[in-house]
Amino acid sequence: MELNKLRQKLKNENLNSIFGEITKISATSIEIKGLKTGIGDIIKLISNENEHLQTLAMVVEIKDKFSYLSPFSFIEGFKIGDRAFLSDAGMQIGVSDELLGRVVDPFMRPKDGKGAIEASKFMPIMRAPIDAMKRGLIEEVFPVGVKTIDALLTCGVGQKLGIFAGSGVGKSTLMGMIVKNSKAPIKVVALIGERGREIPEFIQKNLGGKLDDTVIIVATSDDSALMRKYGAFCAMSVAEYFKEQGKDVLFIMDSVTRFAMAQREIGLALGEPPTTKGYPPSVLSLLPQLMERAGKEEGKGTITAFFTVLVDGDDMSDPIADQSRSILDGHIVLSRELTDFGIYPPINIQNSASRVMGDIITNEHKLLARKFKRLNSLLKENEVLLRIGAYQKGSDKELDEAIAKKDFMQKFLGQNPEESFEFNDTIELLKQIDTSIAMPNNQNLGSSNATLPNPNQK
Ligand SMILES: Nc1ncnc2c1ncn2[C@@H]1O[C@H](COP(=O)(O)OP(=O)(O)OP(=O)(O)O)[C@@H](O)[C@H]1O
Ligand SMILES: [Mg+2]
Repeated sequence: MELNKLRQKLKNENLNSIFGEITKISATSIEIKGLKTGIGDIIKLISNENEHLQTLAMVVEIKDKFSYLSPFSFIEGFKIGDRAFLSDAGMQIGVSDELLGRVVDPFMRPKDGKGAIEASKFMPIMRAPIDAMKRGLIEEVFPVGVKTIDALLTCGVGQKLGIFAGSGVGKSTLMGMIVKNSKAPIKVVALIGERGREIPEFIQKNLGGKLDDTVIIVATSDDSALMRKYGAFCAMSVAEYFKEQGKDVLFIMDSVTRFAMAQREIGLALGEPPTTKGYPPSVLSLLPQLMERAGKEEGKGTITAFFTVLVDGDDMSDPIADQSRSILDGHIVLSRELTDFGIYPPINIQNSASRVMGDIITNEHKLLARKFKRLNSLLKENEVLLRIGAYQKGSDKELDEAIAKKDFMQKFLGQNPEESFEFNDTIELLKQIDTSIAMPNNQNLGSSNATLPNPNQK
């Protein structure tokens, strides 16, 4: 076993004895000659003056005898004539169970100062998505411990969902709640393009510092575009490593937008034409390559994935938001408008949808959820009328019911970040939309008998 590990390691380190040399260096790309390369090959650059100055780069364009590379890290210090080796193993990362509880960079190098991580297996970074015929049906509920989602936007094991929101609306907080409260045995968190300062804050504040079953993969905003792009794929490979052991994995990534921006940088530098919002066409084909790798595969485990998508100025027609929505099987939209009213988590239930919900919940749950959504929409629709007191009680029976249950609904939709609710308790609570309140005959329209049980603190 040990020998095998060593062999794998050597194989991965093995560099060809033939090498090429750097012929041109620009701010974002490097030209080399002397190597026969293919697109996507990994090249190791080593400085002639200083053996320790090394970096990895990827072949992104080939023309005549020249290959054009996009580097994974800074290229300061490299000079014309420095050596370029073709890496035999291609794009692989070393993974193992030791990753649990750790914070690492896309190459699985520790970022938490807790010592080296020994690889037990090498996983390719770029892989084909799950074969369509091998995709298992989503038929089991994936409880996330957030009442609004479990009750009204129920997720399934192996589902892919997007969390769409503007900046500062509450994505990270909601992500943290999902990671903390869901019962998946393995959790993989990819933080792509976040400000470096936010990482320890996210771990401490949103995850509560509990990491035993979690791997956090980080590529911050100051990392190279290639690092941010492949950071997301590396994180998916880690999730796949656990999935192949038959485990149910929660994969959560913040944010798809920063990942797309990294590809925009790479694509534009290579001369791709910019389209809407400057995104080159390759961005749109890259999103399914990543997202379609999540899901349920027959005979193996599952990857239930949540991707956050930043919507600029809350504009839902943003190309990245649009493309993500078409690939994912559900979207949770967070509204700034709700935060203005102090409603947290600010999930806009009217604009959100879980496409698998209907297949995985009971009929009773379906009816309750439908009723909740309908009453909530009615209130929203008549908000102005109600506020100015122009509505005459008794004119519309359903609206009267909605008014009577307003308080209950509002309480139901609110949840503090440290609260966690069991799925069954959430459904019991949801039943109050149907039974708890007798039609009020008094003028106190906001009153409700609804009582919320104590949340199950974990
Ligand atoms: N469930 C909640 N309960 C109370 N406050 C919340 C909740 N969710 C979010 N907030 C408030 O909203 C603020 C912003 O949240 P958060 O950092 O999660 O947003 P974000 O969308 O990730 O922001 P950014 O775009 O900067 O990454 C938090 O500092 C917190 O005060
Ligand atoms: Mg955030």
